[in-house]
Amino acid sequence: MSEQSKRKNGASATGKSATAEQSVMRELGVHGQRWAEVFDGYFSDANAAGPLLDAVEKAIEVGKPDVLADLGGGTGFLLAELLRRGLLTVRLVDVDLSEKQLSACANGGIVKLQSPLNQVTRRQLLAGEERLLLMSRSMLHYFGRDGIDPLLKHLRMQLHPGEFFVHQSACFARQGDADLMNLLYERMETVKWFFTRDELAARLQRAGFAVRAASPAPPLQMSSADLGERYGLGPEEKAAIGREIVEKFGCGQKIFTQEGDEFRATLCYCIFTCEAV
Ligand SMILES: C[S@@+](CC[C@H](N)C(=O)[O-])C[C@H]1O[C@@H](n2cnc3c(N)ncnc32)[C@H](O)[C@@H]1O
Repeated sequence: MSEQSKRKNGASATGKSATAEQSVMRELGVHGQRWAEVFDGYFSDANAAGPLLDAVEKAIEVGKPDVLADLGGGTGFLLAELLRRGLLTVRLVDVDLSEKQLSACANGGIVKLQSPLNQVTRRQLLAGEERLLLMSRSMLHYFGRDGIDPLLKHLRMQLHPGEFFVHQSACFARQGDADLMNLLYERMETVKWFFTRDELAARLQRAGFAVRAASPAPPLQMSSADLGERYGLGPEEKAAIGREIVEKFGCGQKIFTQEGDEFRATLCYCIFTCEAV
């Protein structure tokens, strides 16, 4: 790996691979106010968020939490939407590592906690016998192929049996689509990792969660222009990545289309309602 590649990847001089935290630092350019605009405004779109927020509201009805923590909650958009829908009975905490994301969260009804997610503890979020609900959107893949299991186990340890973790996570129905997306992200020199829906469900179960419901969420359309801005790719790099993917997987893929030197990729999501058991 070249020195430039190592820097992009966040890899240390010793060759140790990038951590989720280093992935966050690499994306600071699109954090804060800019976050609402990238990817055609997906992350600030109330309609796109609707199915996840419906699932969270159901879990609130069943679990009756005192505190709802959005893990990797970014600018607090999802929690602000819940407030807009009339959620007044639950204390809301936006947990994120990025100060820039948290500084764009201006809603006085939301408490902000700057922390790496694999270190956040129940005690930081609530007191005594209070009940906790965790949620997240588009966060698990930051932890990479080897980091997801330890993270899921850590999150499970923060919950009591009967409490819920409701999350919208990137995953694919077909192994071939997961392979394509993993190659794309590897070529963009990130450690992010995508499983199939079944594999992710199996990992949730192994971590001590019972998956009570799983349903698709609106997919994220990503242009190579957006990806280039996020990961610092030049025109030649983007064109070469597009060519390699078409060569390996063929054209006519539902989740990847090439348009001249640019491309579009589709990230599929599933909403999992998981109960700690
Ligand atoms: C793709 S963004 C999604 C933001 C928000 N959930 C939403 O849907 O708009 C992922 C967020 O997770 C945060 N994040 C990723 N890895 C993290 C980690 N290890 N610790 C804390 N936050 C992390 C990033 O800073 C970023 O705000």
